[in-house]
Amino acid sequence: MVLVDSATRGGGSVVLPGRRSAPASPPPAATSGPTAPRPAATAASPRLAKFHVPEILFGPGSLPEAAHAAVRLGARRPMLVTDPGLRAVGWPDRLCVHLAEAGLRTTLWDGVTPNPKDHEIAAGHEVYRAEGCDVIIAVGGGSVIDAAKGVALLAGNGGCILDFEGVDRMAWPIPPMVMVPATSGTGADVSQFCIVTDTRRNTKITILGRTLVPDVSVVDPHLLVTMPDWLNAATGLDALTHGVEAFVSRAHNPLTDHHALHAISLVSAHLVRTMDHPLEEEPRLFMAQAALEAGLAFTNAILGAAHAMSHQVGGLLDLPHGVINGVLLPHVIRFNAAADPCRFVPIAAAFGVPGDTVPDSEAAAVEAAEWVAAEVRRLADELGVPRGLAEIGVTEADVPKLSSMTMVDACLSTNPREADLADIEALFRAAL
Ligand SMILES: [Fe+2]
Repeated sequence: MVLVDSATRGGGSVVLPGRRSAPASPPPAATSGPTAPRPAATAASPRLAKFHVPEILFGPGSLPEAAHAAVRLGARRPMLVTDPGLRAVGWPDRLCVHLAEAGLRTTLWDGVTPNPKDHEIAAGHEVYRAEGCDVIIAVGGGSVIDAAKGVALLAGNGGCILDFEGVDRMAWPIPPMVMVPATSGTGADVSQFCIVTDTRRNTKITILGRTLVPDVSVVDPHLLVTMPDWLNAATGLDALTHGVEAFVSRAHNPLTDHHALHAISLVSAHLVRTMDHPLEEEPRLFMAQAALEAGLAFTNAILGAAHAMSHQVGGLLDLPHGVINGVLLPHVIRFNAAADPCRFVPIAAAFGVPGDTVPDSEAAAVEAAEWVAAEVRRLADELGVPRGLAEIGVTEADVPKLSSMTMVDACLSTNPREADLADIEALFRAAL
């Protein structure tokens, strides 16, 4: 798998560090991947920065705006994608009322399960076609939003969702999309990612492309109060992982850095408060903002080894994505910091390292990176996240397959430190 350098492809998705403007003659088709030589991850070198972002409507009570957005996008017969858990707490039906008030007859489909499966997306597409739908709306967490993107992808391009694995594999436009996140972590409502479980291979595939950035994201923090505690913890750790991996990514830029660091500081300051005082509005507001900003960071800077590894564990065992990230992230931080700890100094500051500043020296950077790794683990402990992958069902026998699948995950391409198969196997074993 490769990430396409948009500086050389125009319509591509990722701008890799160290690249300049488009060359005059023939550009390479695909220039970087897990096995390709990598440019140096220099933070200061001038380069093209590209920043994809949907229209964002943010604020408590903003749910009805999703109906207005659908009307603006030309909806006559929208399809509302959600899951049974969300239906049980009532948000999709409430939005259906707003859509009816706007004159729209909605097809509601709730056939999505966590870690959305290839066959579920095919089934959703059948519903979309049979009902003559024209706009996709999603109310839910990352699984629901990714399933909605998958349905939109098939509606525009046909075929099987697994055919689109990789970067910019879709040829045709897709229906307009309005996303309403119901968790504070996924970032899928603003991202160009669509993660789908390949049920034949028991892994997750990554579909990446500018086309998948939703048209509108409606972030209503009121929706967050219906999350169960475990999901709040898991998605909050996912947002933290997005912030950290985006900040140290080889494809980071000053625009993504700002959002990544702010997301980290918001999670550090407010996630535990949302667990202890779930009905307080202000911490929920800040966590909604954290998820949003982490999403803006990672969709443009991409991610790293923690997500590349997490996708394989999630696909194999159908486990919560954020929980897996919470277990893996400290190990990946230590692995990356061993090569270059400097990027972890600002992360430590955002995460609230004791003292006013982190001294600017190599030794202090090593110390800061270790502090961040330990602090992520301390937070995971406080949230009740298992200390190792073995506690959630991963065995030593799974490591070779998980590791080889990790090597072809798109997210590994932007990890700041080169990782070979032996490195990934060692990381999995350390995290067991
Ligand atoms: Fe994630």
